[in-house]
Amino acid sequence: MRAASVSDYRELARRRLPNIFFEYIDGGSYAETTLRRNVADLEAIALRQRVMRDMTKLDMSVATLGQTLSMPVGLAPVGLSGMFGRRGEVQAAKAAAAAGVPFCLSTVGVCTVEEVARTGVPPWFQLYMLKDRGYMRELLARAKAAGSPVLVFTVDLPIPGARYRDTRSGFTGSSGLAAAVRQAWDGLSHPGWMWDVWANGRPHSLGSVAGAMQGGGRVTDYLSWIARNFDRSVTWADLDWVRETWDGPIVVKGVLDPQDARDAVKAGAQGLVVSNHGGRQLDGVRSSISALPRIAEAVGGDLEVYMDGGVRSGLDVLKALALGAKACFLGRAWAYALAAGGEAQIARMLATIRSELAVAMILTGCASARDAGSANHTAQLSVLLIASRRVSRG
Ligand SMILES: Cc1cc2nc3c(=O)[nH]c(=O)nc-3n(C[C@H](O)[C@H](O)[C@H](O)COP(=O)(O)O)c2cc1C
Repeated sequence: MRAASVSDYRELARRRLPNIFFEYIDGGSYAETTLRRNVADLEAIALRQRVMRDMTKLDMSVATLGQTLSMPVGLAPVGLSGMFGRRGEVQAAKAAAAAGVPFCLSTVGVCTVEEVARTGVPPWFQLYMLKDRGYMRELLARAKAAGSPVLVFTVDLPIPGARYRDTRSGFTGSSGLAAAVRQAWDGLSHPGWMWDVWANGRPHSLGSVAGAMQGGGRVTDYLSWIARNFDRSVTWADLDWVRETWDGPIVVKGVLDPQDARDAVKAGAQGLVVSNHGGRQLDGVRSSISALPRIAEAVGGDLEVYMDGGVRSGLDVLKALALGAKACFLGRAWAYALAAGGEAQIARMLATIRSELAVAMILTGCASARDAGSANHTAQLSVLLIASRRVSRG
């Protein structure tokens, strides 16, 4: 199948990946209510079609945190990506750089920040708060030395949410001979993945945190290690501590509440990502897109507001911009594309998002991605009006 949309990449990923990795990417926490909401609430928003405007000049670029993005999109941090495609983080970073958008490397990526930086474009670096502050300091220093321009500090995972699919698939909580045989069969029945990742994508460790993990940072130990080592005592005051080592821009990721957003401003963040971790943490919380307008209204003038969660097309990107986001991050969309066919497929997926965004901008009379937020509309351009029962500006 030649993929035309993100849902096609999902299907290709399902065919190509061992079940444990597909379920790990695709799943959410508990009953997956928030995961579904993220997508459904975006779908429920209507774009306002406008016609007969001269749309020959279209500017999709946005400037943010000292960078110009060719379109208002970035690749969100996705842990374990090197298990979905050979040296997956490096492939994603190359595709993102070629498309002129940022790639954010997860703390629990398979590739180290140094390996990704060798592509020539250092990644944004995502940090989880670990109990071992000495190791954290080292990690921050490494990201800085590798040239990472932005630190993304994820605040919605002081403890991992339960993901039932990972239990059912055997990714977590299973050990012994029967589990080993099942996992071996899962791999062997996906020969394309075996060749690409298992045989040629080594080492299979969590590059950046391998030094902090006993047993060399094997990916199979990952979830239990997180549960033991992520720090739930973390508060906004810890941002001061981070700043002692990191003097660049800090983006706080995982905010859904306007009061938390104000606190992020007070703590000195330069950006925030309205996010529920793709529905993988506290199930039942609201969708990112429904939380966005009030947060943009509360702090949009003080820092950069981004969003992620459920973005599956360029149309979704425009909806988020119209509701106050400066840019959107894609999570599963790029993980599926990586699994489907590496850098080339991520590049194709990004090209698809770009052309979908262009069509949406032209047919809503939005000539510039910078003006898509309705606060900037002039009556003449009159770009977008979001009509939805579930997502309101109030
Ligand atoms: C497989 C997977 C792994 C993820 N790993 C991380 C991570 O290591 N750090 C992080 O901050 N967010 C992580 N996230 C959350 C994403 O950065 C992002 O918030 C989410 O995927 C957005 O939702 P979407 O997948 O619907 O686009 C992960 C998401 C997925 C799907």
